[in-house]
Amino acid sequence: YSPMSDNRLMMEPSKEFVFNYKGFYFAVNTTPEYVASLENFEIKDSDIFIATYPKSGTVWTQNILSLILHEGHRNGTENMETMDRIPWVEYNIKNMDYANLPLPRVFATHLPYYLTPKELRNKKGRVIYVTRNPKDVLVSYYHFSKFIRTLEKIPDFNIFMERFLAGKVLASAWFDHVSGWYNHAKDFNILFLTYEEMKKDLRSTVLKICNFIGKKLSEEEIESVVRQATFENMQKDPRANYENMPDDIAIKGKGRFLRKGTIGDWKNTMTVAQSERFDEVLKEKIQTLPIKFTWDTE
Ligand code: A3P
Repeated sequence: YSPMSDNRLMMEPSKEFVFNYKGFYFAVNTTPEYVASLENFEIKDSDIFIATYPKSGTVWTQNILSLILHEGHRNGTENMETMDRIPWVEYNIKNMDYANLPLPRVFATHLPYYLTPKELRNKKGRVIYVTRNPKDVLVSYYHFSKFIRTLEKIPDFNIFMERFLAGKVLASAWFDHVSGWYNHAKDFNILFLTYEEMKKDLRSTVLKICNFIGKKLSEEEIESVVRQATFENMQKDPRANYENMPDDIAIKGKGRFLRKGTIGDWKNTMTVAQSERFDEVLKEKIQTLPIKFTWDTE
């Protein structure tokens, strides 16, 4: 008997990996008390938060922002990895002193809109929210969970998909996350980006971000940011590719953070039946969102 082959058991997230706080699944490397304390996390005017549902382009956006803000004048932190320059709000695994980071502080987060700091929800600081075709998110997430030690192992893609659709994974339901942020946009000082637009026109994305954060870069600097933020160049850069994740987080040799970096890779993994099942659950819901995504209309 193998519990892994029992579909019923696989439908509930294992408490070994996640806990639920106010309807949202967090990884066990944070605590409900700490998450609760974020309500009163003090925001500075220059703060920038990169908010995403997992696998939507977080690391990419972290790297772009980092390049825009620091490249060339990082004063001794040239070899510092992105994840140390732009830490996770809800997972302070390195016990950094967030209150005293150099300004502007930049954080990454998977928090749903309603669990973010109160001041952020009152337009203090800035948020960049990135979305991606949920089918690509699903496939990326599936591969990702194979090599991240802190994520539950669900080898059967069908079961993983059902868990994803039911919101029974770390970060809960994709749709709830995206609809929450889009429908509460007016509470935040927020810029919405999509993975697809970044992929199709990285330079425009860089300009949009510069404009949003009020940063003026020269032509050459913009070119340099764009060049260093392509998939190929990020994959080669140990500061940007998350290759140096500690052994207690990543299982060496089982996968890479920068895996394929393409639009539509879901077609290589999902069967027609799986894609139809996915649409059955999500298509109508997605149409209620206050935005039309290109992957939905193409
Ligand atoms: P794939 O698994 O489809 O390759 P996140 O950072 O939110 O976890 O998202 C990870 C996804 O973003 C991965 O998708 C990864 O390859 C992709 N990604 C990271 N950097 C990228 C870049 N410069 N260009 C395109 N995709 C990138």
